[in-house]
Amino acid sequence: MAKTSSKSSRAGKPSAFAGTSTTQKLAGKKAAAKRAAPARARTPATPDAVALLRADHKAVTELFGKFEKMRGDTPQKKALVERICNELTVHTEIEEEIFYPAARAAIKDDDMLDEAQVEHNGAKQLIADLRGLQPGEDMYDAKVTVLSEYIKHHVKEEQNEMFPKVKKTKLDLKALGAQMLARKQELMGNIDKISQQSR
Ligand SMILES: [Fe+2]
Ligand SMILES: [Fe+2]
Repeated sequence: MAKTSSKSSRAGKPSAFAGTSTTQKLAGKKAAAKRAAPARARTPATPDAVALLRADHKAVTELFGKFEKMRGDTPQKKALVERICNELTVHTEIEEEIFYPAARAAIKDDDMLDEAQVEHNGAKQLIADLRGLQPGEDMYDAKVTVLSEYIKHHVKEEQNEMFPKVKKTKLDLKALGAQMLARKQELMGNIDKISQQSR
């Protein structure tokens, strides 16, 4: 407070240089604001809930595509399937903890949400099976392929039916997205512990 009043009393003095000084100060402030602006622009915006889930869907679809092209029962195949399982475990968790309850309350379509949950349960069973298997063991490739088909079907239903319905509601998708992103980062940090639990 004291600083402000001393500044304004200086600015109020009838000095020939007072105007220049104020202009310089303003110019300095503008320059500082200009310097600050790009820093804000570089901070990536938090995606809204639907954009975040769509990005996850795209990423895991690409991973399944890589699996299809893989030949041989190699450590790389094991690592890729482990990554697919981890991505799906975290994704289904943020949907079940945060997105589905919010969607259930907003769109009032319990059948749709129930079906989505049953599909998650089916996927989780395959993920648990795969975590206990090695490439080359019986049914390993078949389980990855069926998981991929399950997820393709599930993603199509979410993107073509659930998300458009959710977007028509008054749900605050930005706030939901921020909450989901924070939880996703937390779960990714604990993925080793979580993958042990889902075996
Ligand atoms: Fe999803
Ligand atoms: Fe889902």
